[in-house]
Amino acid sequence: MKLKGKNILLGITGGIAAYKAAILVRLLVKEGAEVKVVMTRLAKEFITPLTMATLSKNPILVEFFDPENGQWNSHVDLGSWSDLFLIAPATANSMGKMAHAVADNLLITTYLSAKCPVMIAPAMDLDMFQHPANLKNIETLKSYGNLIVEPESGELASGLVGKGRMAEPEIITENVINFFSSKKKLKSKKILVTAGPTYEPIDPVRFIGNYSSGKMGYAIAEVLASQGAEVILVSGPTNLEPSNSLITKINVKTAQEMYTESVKYFPECNVAIMSAAVADFKPVVYFDKKVKRGKDEMQIKLEPNKDIAAELGKMKKKNQKLIGFALETNNEFENAKKKIRNKNLDFIVLNSLNEDGAGFGYDTNKISIIDNENNQTNFDLKPKKEVAVDIVNAVIETLMKS
Ligand code: CTP
Repeated sequence: MKLKGKNILLGITGGIAAYKAAILVRLLVKEGAEVKVVMTRLAKEFITPLTMATLSKNPILVEFFDPENGQWNSHVDLGSWSDLFLIAPATANSMGKMAHAVADNLLITTYLSAKCPVMIAPAMDLDMFQHPANLKNIETLKSYGNLIVEPESGELASGLVGKGRMAEPEIITENVINFFSSKKKLKSKKILVTAGPTYEPIDPVRFIGNYSSGKMGYAIAEVLASQGAEVILVSGPTNLEPSNSLITKINVKTAQEMYTESVKYFPECNVAIMSAAVADFKPVVYFDKKVKRGKDEMQIKLEPNKDIAAELGKMKKKNQKLIGFALETNNEFENAKKKIRNKNLDFIVLNSLNEDGAGFGYDTNKISIIDNENNQTNFDLKPKKEVAVDIVNAVIETLMKS
């Protein structure tokens, strides 16, 4: 399902290759894409709207409005709905209109108003294809940033043999998949993310923990995966489950377990993002039986846990990046900058606790990002999912710098 979540608008123009659009829709839908179809009037002569509506599971659009009830088919809405406008087959006539803004049908008006990328699979007889007017139009479309799936050489509907036959639906689908995957900025990157709280056991039923929900770390893992990164998510106890198959979740409870797993995976990762709220201390003694209530004062002696971020900071190689978080109540920026130095971080995400709606348990967060060259960017209060996008963008920028 390489096209899951992608909205593809398929434009079909009037050529004999239109019959292949049925197979094309099937392949796109099989890969998980949501497909809507806009056809020219002539295209309906080559393949029926009923066939295309059945395969795409969406009504077909041909006219500017429905003559029965006057309902308007908005070309602007269609254009903004789609992640890609794929025109296959594209006849010489339609490409000519596209190149010169001849807006006389719904397909062309949609093309002219579409904000999304456009991919075109031309189809025509060899002499039409070779005509300088047609080649010039294709060059014009390329100059607008449109992507062309080159036609193949072979037997044509006319019986002639030459270049002009529309690329096979399998090849077009492959081009669409490649188009979306090449846009992924973290393809072939492996990223370690720590998330959630840690629990430091006192006895079999009690622990020292904190209120971290893990929401921020999980949101970061999802955004990283959506950009093609392979993610190792070392997670303390949370109620969350990742949804992307590029995320491998490793469950831990204590800071020591989180340390062991992080140290194990960091050498094979390009980046580590330390979003976990690691307990700084653990009880020196673990009671293997439940501690009974007594009348005397009870004291639990604590010892420091390993600082996972600082340990990874020591291991960090030149081509690796390390990102930390800071949660401060006072002297926010000074303390955050100290942590960048002490833990050898590339940048730190400073969470403000002085802000309503930010921090543990909330769905929103307000952050500042400070890098190891002292550059600071402040962001507005936003949903954690959007904050995750800001953080991942900063990761991508940092990777591009090296
Ligand atoms: N961190 C870690 N291991 C620890 C403690 C913290 O990896 N034992 C990481 C956190 O995941 C975070 C960063 O270090 O990315 C800073 O965490 P924070 O708790 O703010 O800082 P501390 O170093 O514990 O300092 P303090 O609590 O004194 O502010």
